[in-house]
Amino acid sequence: MEFFVKSGNPEKQRSACIVVGVFEPRRLSRAGELLDEISEGYLSNLLRRGDIEGKVGQVLFLHHVPNVLSERVLLVGCGKERELTEAQYKQIIAKTISTLNDTGSLESICFLTELRIIGRDSYWAVRQAVEATEDSLYSFDQFKTTKENTRRPLRKLTFNVSSRKELARAELALQHGLAVASGTKACKDLANMPPNICTPLYLSEQAKILEQRFEKIATKIVDADQMAELKMDSYLAVARGSKNQPYMSIMTYNGGVEGQKPVVLVGKGLTFDAGGISLKPGAGMDEMKYDMGGAASVYGTMEAIAKLDLPINVIGILVGAENMPDGNAYRPGDILTTMSGQTVEVLNTDAEGRLVLCDALTYVERFEPECVVDIATLTGACIMALGHNISALVTPHKGLAHEIITASNQASDKAWQLPMDDEYQKQLDSPFADMANIGGRPAGTITAACFLSRFTKKYNWAHLDVAGTAWRSGSNKGATGRPVSLLTQFLINRSESDTTELSN
Ligand code: BES
Ligand code: MN
Ligand code: ZN
Repeated sequence: MEFFVKSGNPEKQRSACIVVGVFEPRRLSRAGELLDEISEGYLSNLLRRGDIEGKVGQVLFLHHVPNVLSERVLLVGCGKERELTEAQYKQIIAKTISTLNDTGSLESICFLTELRIIGRDSYWAVRQAVEATEDSLYSFDQFKTTKENTRRPLRKLTFNVSSRKELARAELALQHGLAVASGTKACKDLANMPPNICTPLYLSEQAKILEQRFEKIATKIVDADQMAELKMDSYLAVARGSKNQPYMSIMTYNGGVEGQKPVVLVGKGLTFDAGGISLKPGAGMDEMKYDMGGAASVYGTMEAIAKLDLPINVIGILVGAENMPDGNAYRPGDILTTMSGQTVEVLNTDAEGRLVLCDALTYVERFEPECVVDIATLTGACIMALGHNISALVTPHKGLAHEIITASNQASDKAWQLPMDDEYQKQLDSPFADMANIGGRPAGTITAACFLSRFTKKYNWAHLDVAGTAWRSGSNKGATGRPVSLLTQFLINRSESDTTELSN
């Protein structure tokens, strides 16, 4: 899809389809009113007759509206004008796109970006419209032998903003939206890939491809032998029960000035998590192919920032491994010595994410990071705490928490901070080792973060648990691409404040 922004009058647009909003009850939006005037009340007549009420999800497709230069007019229900929510806005855009796709308009101009949402500007409206459009057009059909093709798909979409003054910001929103959408798509494609194909080796190959595609990205792979030399025994223990060898991919993006400390993103990349000897129950186990969703989001974010050519140094790490039960697998009761030297008693082999991450988090000390954010589908408890809409943020660092929550709000990619008071740490006490790998049922997301915190003392660190948000279950099963949008925003913000610091 090709996107454009513009600021024009609806009555002057010559397009295959012009899209305008209708509010409940039966009230035209500003753009709709302008079309109504030139059509001498054609639209308001339809409304009066009750053809469309204006509820969210309603659409009315019209041909040959008198005096309107565009071939078609699509009226889209937007609900009550003052009550329009962000979620509804995205829903309205998705509905518009599916209608346009089904009805054969090859191009369209959309005035829904003029809708007002409390606290949001046209930058937000345009960016979310681009992201929502690409999200609604996404499908993962590479393993379907017959594909559902749209006969005459929408190819070109222009979003209108209400004044020329807003055009520069709208252009920026378009650029950001496109980069985020392509990073999100890369994340989804990788995460949706089946685990017989998407192995840790496959993750590393994808990381290598990014190096080839982008001048500023260099990729290095750490294999099992090198991990052994590095004494990453915890990471290796998790991978030992699988024929698929572990690989850790290190993608370095050099966009900032030389010597500028990097932001490091560490993604949990369990290409399949069977639970190991503490085997998971069978129902829904296929979804544990998504246990590399954190790594996929790091991968997508690297793509997004490379496309934006952000002036910042970032290192993205994919912590690839597979957790399987076999004769060589690690067991409950085993005591592992992590790369940091600290020992861990394994009480449950299904709490494997923290065991691979802890060694990766020690490994990244060598980069002297500005800060480190890890992203992981770490705990089922996170879904109990926050559900499927909000990711959990856990960090001891106030400044970083503020930054990440701000980025989350800007990007409409929700995250909520959970506490990590010291009292939780004692749940990890072990009679035999420095710590156990599980902290019991209470506050499982927090104790998992507490475990990681013991390996992140040398830098500022935050943890995002995306167990509930990285994919959807049920009939609409699929990766969501989250939190690529949040992470990219976080890096956009950082790159902007860095450049102002430099110019001051
Ligand atoms: N990858 C899972 C967490 C998970 C489970 C994410 C379900 C999304 C949906 C993780 O490796 C795991 O198994 N965690 C255990 C930890 C427990 C043994 C302390 C969990 O949450 O049950
Ligand atoms: Mn597990
Ligand atoms: Zn896992």
